Amino acid sequence: MTQTLAIIKPDATGSGKAGQILAHVEAAGFTLKAARMIRMTRAHARSFYAVHSERPFYDSLVDFMTSGPCIPMVLEAPDAVARLREVIGATDPADAAEGTVRRLHAESKERNAIHASDSNENARREIAFFFPETDRIG
Ligand code: CMP
Repeated sequence: MTQTLAIIKPDATGSGKAGQILAHVEAAGFTLKAARMIRMTRAHARSFYAVHSERPFYDSLVDFMTSGPCIPMVLEAPDAVARLREVIGATDPADAAEGTVRRLHAESKERNAIHASDSNENARREIAFFFPETDRIG
């Protein structure tokens, strides 16, 4: 078993889709190991997305991620990082495969409902970013 970090983003919490998205990933075989609801500060969002700081969409992404509640969560499954990225679909919902979370629930390339770690190394870093060890189950 391996773990990955997902974040249900403010577009999805704001439109009442958090429960549907969690049900979708659980039905796809993931076990929820940790979750919290937070309102990210600008410093928090800038730090989480520091790798994108030179991109033209960075300021807008920080505005969006601080615009409402987010639900970071730790999800466990065999090959969790790659499998969750399949289940959520491409960054842009227009490119996401039928039946994926983003195809079903995302509004746009930026307001794309859910984040998922893109490597095992980033999953470890991102899980530690949101969850101290004492808040994790198993
Ligand atoms: P995420 O998987 O959280 O990783 C980086 C985020 O930046 C991405 O989802 C989108 O929310 C956002 N993003 C990526 N590319 C673009 C883009 N071209 N325009 C606007 N937002 C983007």
